[in-house]
Amino acid sequence: MSIVLSGRWPAAEQQQWLRLLQEALPGEDWCLAPPADAVQAAAVDIAIVANPEPGVLQGLPNLRLIQSLWAGVDRLLQDPTLPPEVPLARMVDPAMNEAMVHTALWAVLALHRGFFDLHAQQGQSLWRQPQQLRAAEWRVMVLGMGQLGGRVAQALAAQGYAVSGWSRRPADCAGVQTLHGAEGLAQGLAAADTVINLLPLTEQTRDFFNAARLTTMKRGACLVNLARGAHVVEDDLLAALDSGQLSRAVLDVFRQEPLPADHPFWQHPRVTVLPHCAAQTDPRSAAAVVRTNVLALRAGQPLAHRVHRPRGY
Ligand code: NAP
Ligand code: GLV
Repeated sequence: MSIVLSGRWPAAEQQQWLRLLQEALPGEDWCLAPPADAVQAAAVDIAIVANPEPGVLQGLPNLRLIQSLWAGVDRLLQDPTLPPEVPLARMVDPAMNEAMVHTALWAVLALHRGFFDLHAQQGQSLWRQPQQLRAAEWRVMVLGMGQLGGRVAQALAAQGYAVSGWSRRPADCAGVQTLHGAEGLAQGLAAADTVINLLPLTEQTRDFFNAARLTTMKRGACLVNLARGAHVVEDDLLAALDSGQLSRAVLDVFRQEPLPADHPFWQHPRVTVLPHCAAQTDPRSAAAVVRTNVLALRAGQPLAHRVHRPRGY
């Protein structure tokens, strides 16, 4: 049997992945998508994918595992040709978790202490000292308490912030006020000075931040979107920023990526744009995660980090 590798990436990046995966799994046969012919396609039982082009996983009759190199599988699940019965596992990468914690800490610290505004003041040679609030006086709400959101919430709580975390099911997280359901959402959003989005993109969460929801946030709050661009209705966010309902947005993800050069977010004085870099998969640690699942499949053991397809994450 063999493993096929497929992703939307530059050739050098693909070669790096292939080399690290071959080192992690030296006994395996490898090929790049698409397989050269029907014989090679029939030999493939595992596909390792990084947001591949739709249709890439068709015509692999013996496929038994799709392992995503991305944490979010929303784009993969939108491919109507994705073989429906084949188990799908997503990336849970310790280095990615750590990077996401760093991005969230940076954003919350900068918002709480007014560093984005101070940077803008420098451009005007303006010497004006801001009010200094304590961390405990700054309420942060984390939406999504999974691999990433749970760690972000804990790291913020460890810095002394007043943190709440919202998930679909009731959760438990030391030092964090855990919320769920519509009531928990309304309660958390009405109180939070900063809202961090780390929800997966699903049918339930698409367009989550629309005009109606943005109105339920505390006036003057900040939004940090580190999950997916389609969680946000961009025109509604711009309107909320322009009306003062929100005071700032830190955005790592967008409905169209790369963000088009003429998009109003680029020049907006209260928007900080990041190029989808909050937490990238680190091939060095991710190769070990892939290895674990490949070995589990070969040994008939349960797979780690399986996606629940009907739920969409
Ligand atoms: P995860 O472990 O699957 O956690 C998802 C969390 O969201 C869970 O707590 C889940 O609740 C909650 N959730 C899902 N649907 C919900 C709903 N309708 N209402 C309330 N809560 C809901 O996901 P993760 O690994 O933390 O990743 C989250 C997302 O981050 C990914 O899907 C991806 O889009 C994004 N991401 C972005 C970057 C970047 O660089 N910007 C990098 C990696 C990932 P339950 O626990 O109750 O199920
Ligand atoms: C990045 O956005 C990921 O989902 O891994």
